[in-house]
Amino acid sequence: MKNIYSNIFSFNKKTMHKSVVNLKKGNVIGLPTETVYGLAGNAYSKIAVHKIFNLKKRPRKNPLIVHYLNYKHADKDVVLNRHFYKLYKKFCPGPITFVLRKKNKTKIQSSVTAKLNTVAIRFPNHKAIRSILKKLNFPLAMPSANLSSRLSPVSAQDVADEFKTKIKIIVNSGKSKIGIESTVVSLIGKPKILRHGIIDAKTINKILKIGILRKDLKIISPGMLKKHYSPGIPVLLNQKKSEKNCALITFGRKYKDKTDCFNLSKKSDLKEAASNLYKTLRKIKNQGYKKIYVVKIPKVGPGIAINDRLERAAN
Ligand code: TXA
Ligand code: MG
Repeated sequence: MKNIYSNIFSFNKKTMHKSVVNLKKGNVIGLPTETVYGLAGNAYSKIAVHKIFNLKKRPRKNPLIVHYLNYKHADKDVVLNRHFYKLYKKFCPGPITFVLRKKNKTKIQSSVTAKLNTVAIRFPNHKAIRSILKKLNFPLAMPSANLSSRLSPVSAQDVADEFKTKIKIIVNSGKSKIGIESTVVSLIGKPKILRHGIIDAKTINKILKIGILRKDLKIISPGMLKKHYSPGIPVLLNQKKSEKNCALITFGRKYKDKTDCFNLSKKSDLKEAASNLYKTLRKIKNQGYKKIYVVKIPKVGPGIAINDRLERAAN
């Protein structure tokens, strides 16, 4: 894809150095991860965190995830418990975020956690951010690099389209492999899934008995807000066909290639469908369609996270 922005840099040694220098100065940069692209800043710096909230126009009451290289680095900021170690051993580094108690003496800015006494931590599995984290003596607060309530970005170009040149560096490492945000689990009290992701409840249950946050309960994870992941045009779910000037998102081999049809996975692979979801929604929006119709997508495995995102996009 043609790079029309001067702030997109290829992932190489020089870019990594520049990124580290900028983060140390308290600047905010766009970084690839295995899930989606993030907007990264020093989690110990009030100024950097302030910049993140401002750029995203994010409500201050919605806390950020703090990213570390490994558990040893996280140990000084949060209380790591036995449930954490079990899941860490199995899934990290990887697309899972843990909500844990914040330690009293931590340097994490209270704005990062929206003044809660808990912190969400994650260990991303991407060579760019891991090589940067190795060179920093602070962790990175990093939400998805989109304006609040909009679609998450899965390429450097998506990030640039969102923030233009308001950020100095966006590290380009191609399309995010997983394509949807990490699974968020609360490990305070009984383990609970707060946000569905590619690592689903069934997979976690093999390691640890885990519940799911009931939708009717008080919102304890602000990302569970109903309206989210919005492409900016109406989205209609569980449809059989679409209408004129509208796009139809399909899934599986029974749907033929037709104009205005966008198949998330021709081979009916839900993991592939998840990785194509935001990319497809963004493409449809950019092509000027009026509405998005979506066929029924199975609610199993990664399909649970896909349906969760689509339901919020439809709200
Ligand atoms: O895959 C990901 O998790 C990406 C990449 C960039 O790492 N990040 C991401 O961040 O999706 P964000 O800010 O878009 O979503 C963070 C979610 C939100 O739903 C937020 O409410 C929740 O995590 N969260 C953060 N801190 C929390 C806390 N202390 N308690 C409960 N939920 C928390
Ligand atoms: Mg987000």
